[in-house]
Amino acid sequence: MKLGVLVSGNGSNLGAILEASARKRLPDVALVLSNRPDCFALQRARQAGIPSAVVRPEDFSTRQAHDEAVASRLREAGVELVCLAGYLRMLGAPVLEPYAGRVLNIHPSLLPAFPGLHAQRQAIERGVRIAGCTVHFVDAGMDTGPIVAQAAVPVLPADGEGDLTARILAEEHRLYPAAIRWVADGRVRQEGQRAVWSRAPEASGSLWSPDVRT
Ligand code: GRF
Repeated sequence: MKLGVLVSGNGSNLGAILEASARKRLPDVALVLSNRPDCFALQRARQAGIPSAVVRPEDFSTRQAHDEAVASRLREAGVELVCLAGYLRMLGAPVLEPYAGRVLNIHPSLLPAFPGLHAQRQAIERGVRIAGCTVHFVDAGMDTGPIVAQAAVPVLPADGEGDLTARILAEEHRLYPAAIRWVADGRVRQEGQRAVWSRAPEASGSLWSPDVRT
């Protein structure tokens, strides 16, 4: 099982995945792919000696052609499980069909609350007391696919967006590698609009897993 990680920004989740992979707690990352040539995530990939690719939407006349190019790169690299990690584009059928049930995303809210951009800001503006992150299978919607795992954090009275973002990110870095491993191990799989477990994790504190450390 080889992983492909799609990124657009800082790549701190990529860093957590690469670290778990280097410790053999996760399969190898065969490709890091970005839509943005200048993002820091690509530098992390290069520093770790992981093959990387850039597929820029502006180089294609249609979304279909762009998505086909992304799918080709993933296929050529032998990627079997695709992990979106701060990848700021929606993917369509050319990727989602060949990789059905094998595309994951992490989102910085307790879905289905606050899909889309600026989830942490939305959480603060709505006055929620508990926020968190969600790993889910990707479907054609915006942050709508079946939920694999969640971790919760408190929202403190003095929190600004940056405070909450940092608190959630710390959980993301623990949760995402663990959830990827469950999917890679076949412990959980997507069936239609549900995540189906062969061996379900037990609830443990704010983290829906007994063995979330990778
Ligand atoms: C994370 O908050 C993730 O949940 C969201 O985008 C952010 C990416 O951060 N999808 P990073 O690039 O992994 O640091």
